[in-house]
Amino acid sequence: MQLKIAELSDIDNVLKLHAKYQISTIQEEDKKDGFVTTALTKEELTKLINEEQGLFIAISEGEVVAYVMSASWQFLASWPIFAYMMDDLVNLEYLGQKITPENSYQYGPVCVDKSVRGSGVLEAIFDFAREQMSKKYPILVTFINKINTRSYAAHTKKIGLEMIQEFSFNNNDYYELVYDTAKALKNERLQTPQD
Ligand SMILES: CC(C)(COP(=O)(O)OP(=O)(O)OC[C@H]1O[C@@H](n2cnc3c(N)ncnc32)[C@H](O)[C@@H]1OP(=O)(O)O)[C@@H](O)C(=O)NCCC(=O)NCCS
Repeated sequence: MQLKIAELSDIDNVLKLHAKYQISTIQEEDKKDGFVTTALTKEELTKLINEEQGLFIAISEGEVVAYVMSASWQFLASWPIFAYMMDDLVNLEYLGQKITPENSYQYGPVCVDKSVRGSGVLEAIFDFAREQMSKKYPILVTFINKINTRSYAAHTKKIGLEMIQEFSFNNNDYYELVYDTAKALKNERLQTPQD
């Protein structure tokens, strides 16, 4: 398996994976294993790559099998939920400091194809993206829909994200989670997924 920062030529394959698990296009039987709420377009991913270098992918046998998006709050401010979260950061403290739009970034969406789930791909791509983003930001912030129990279990038990608060937005209930980007993941499975 290869981990890399996505290039413009990877976007179509990322969107193919995204469509499989995005809430409006996911197969009914897949919903129990998690879904992505954020809708993404080719234009948005192009901007994300050009302006932030914020798209990370895992490739296996020529297919994109996982992606992680990570971006500054400024980049995300036109999505209502991110604007809401950004305005609320001032009320949160982590690592002995107030969280701000400057010392933190937003992790997610993240998506792992069902063919490779549970194999350590999530941990590997998380850590790859974390390492890149840690060069600019000490704090990762993210949210998970409370009904996405698989994502919550994976991110709290395996990755070690810490729940900092709960919030509701647009009739959905979310956990908000944080992570110290200086902390490399110590997981024996990080090295195992290979072609
Ligand atoms: C969420 C996601 C990234 C997690 O990656 P993953 O490779 O599936 O994670 P893992 O299988 O390593 O870990 C999931 C854990 O949740 C548990 N789990 C599995 N199904 C579950 C469910 N329906 N409810 C609660 N926990 C569940 C598993 O048992 C596993 O823990 P274990 O290995 O200790 O038993 C992946 O499933 C995915 O991409 N889902 C679709 C999109 C999505 O939900 N993205 C996240 C949006 S916030």
